[in-house]
Amino acid sequence: MKSLVIYKSKTGFTKKYAEWIAEKLSADLYDYNQINKELFKGYDVVIYGGSLHAVGIEGIKLIKDNLDILKGKKVVVFAVGASPFREETVEEVKNNNFNKEQLEQIRFYYLRGGFNYNKLPFFDKLLMKLLQWKLKRKKVLTADEKGMLNAYQKPADFSRKENIDSIVAYASSSENK
Ligand SMILES: Cc1cc2nc3c(=O)[nH]c(=O)nc-3n(C[C@H](O)[C@H](O)[C@H](O)COP(=O)(O)O)c2cc1C
Repeated sequence: MKSLVIYKSKTGFTKKYAEWIAEKLSADLYDYNQINKELFKGYDVVIYGGSLHAVGIEGIKLIKDNLDILKGKKVVVFAVGASPFREETVEEVKNNNFNKEQLEQIRFYYLRGGFNYNKLPFFDKLLMKLLQWKLKRKKVLTADEKGMLNAYQKPADFSRKENIDSIVAYASSSENK
């Protein structure tokens, strides 16, 4: 089976997961900016990874707008965020980005990445400064919020190679949605 892995990453976490997946599957690997939809035609499996921004998957339009071309192929989408893996997070991201029909064609996964404030582009830095300011003013912080605040001082990396196992297993199986 010929596999294609595409990623859209701002600080490198999604890119790293995409590289791990592509290596395991001997897949071709492309950055989002190198892609045109004609490329999809040569593949049986298309895997798209995008970082998570305000519960939205970066660049997901590329997949959603081309589901007709992707018909009959195995389509996998993974989102990479800083939040810990929790079933409710996965459900929230899934429902925020896809409708029922799209989910019949797409298999979705959430992978935990990390947070690296220094590597963010200017505008994202600004947004995250606002969040930091909001968090600092809160009287009671959840454990996740405390972790987030600490990550502004020191980059946090929760990515683990074994997190790709279920994607690799599905992509290389004969199972299709
Ligand atoms: C503006 C902004 C919004 C974000 N929103 C979320 C979010 O809703 N959920 C989450 O888990 N992480 C969120 N993050 C954290 C990133 O998803 C996380 O750092 C991810 O690992 C980045 O992947 P990348 O390095 O491939 O871009 C946000 C980061 C930024 C800059």
